[in-house]
Amino acid sequence: MNYEDWARWYDLFYSTESGDEVEFYLNAALAADGPVLEIGVGTGRIAIPAAERGVEVVGIDASREMLAVAEQKAADAGPLDGSLTLVHADMRTLDLRRHDFALVSIPARTLLLALTEEDQLSTLCSAARHLAPGGRLVFNIFNPTPDLVFDESELPVEIGEVERQGRRFRLSAQNRFDTDSQINSAEQVVEEIGEADASTEVARLAVTLRYLFPHQVFAMLEETNLQVDQVLGWFDGTPFEEESEEMVFIASSVVP
Ligand SMILES: C[S@@+](CC[C@H](N)C(=O)[O-])C[C@H]1O[C@@H](n2cnc3c(N)ncnc32)[C@H](O)[C@@H]1O
Repeated sequence: MNYEDWARWYDLFYSTESGDEVEFYLNAALAADGPVLEIGVGTGRIAIPAAERGVEVVGIDASREMLAVAEQKAADAGPLDGSLTLVHADMRTLDLRRHDFALVSIPARTLLLALTEEDQLSTLCSAARHLAPGGRLVFNIFNPTPDLVFDESELPVEIGEVERQGRRFRLSAQNRFDTDSQINSAEQVVEEIGEADASTEVARLAVTLRYLFPHQVFAMLEETNLQVDQVLGWFDGTPFEEESEEMVFIASSVVP
């Protein structure tokens, strides 16, 4: 992935979201009795509001470009009631030499950006290793329903239209699922809408991810010695069902 481009367009894509995801992770951070580690903190979309509300947050990310955006946004937000520490690190090998996090979160399907089973498991191990006894791991990934992964139409999926600084943009995505490797080689497209609704493509961002079925996640969590407390189908608390769009896992480290 080209994070220089992603750092520029990331917040625009996420501005089309309902806000449920940010609220969910923010509530989890506020409910946690201690520091929070966000894996793949990106531009600070969740970490900054949490730090503003008094939480001690450590955010790690492998992209210096994304971290630079987060740093600037945190500076613009002014003094934080809590704290935000940004660390350049890889989630697969992360070792902050801390085991006191009350919550480790991996929002926005970031676990799927590790492209092999081994790397996904290493990422979950990294998360587990940083938890305080009884601490919680919360993450979400999409549910690979047959309708989604066996759709061979390759038609663009409309994401939405947004305005920024007086300019209008249309956002869409093109998925290419390989059902053997479980890899989706997708592209996110940004078009600027001009006069008479004429559109011009201004960015095409590649995203490669390895999707996971629910039973695979359960098996990985068992290997990391984490206990699954709940699986939601959406951030509003709806329980997970076969057709759910999302899988939101809430797990906890077992108190020895
Ligand atoms: C979808 S964004 C999520 C950003 C943020 N958590 C949010 O919810 O807005 C995924 C982030 O994961 C980071 N990332 C991808 N692979 C990584 C890795 N191996 N280690 C650490 N961060 C990684 C990317 O740089 C990107 O900032």
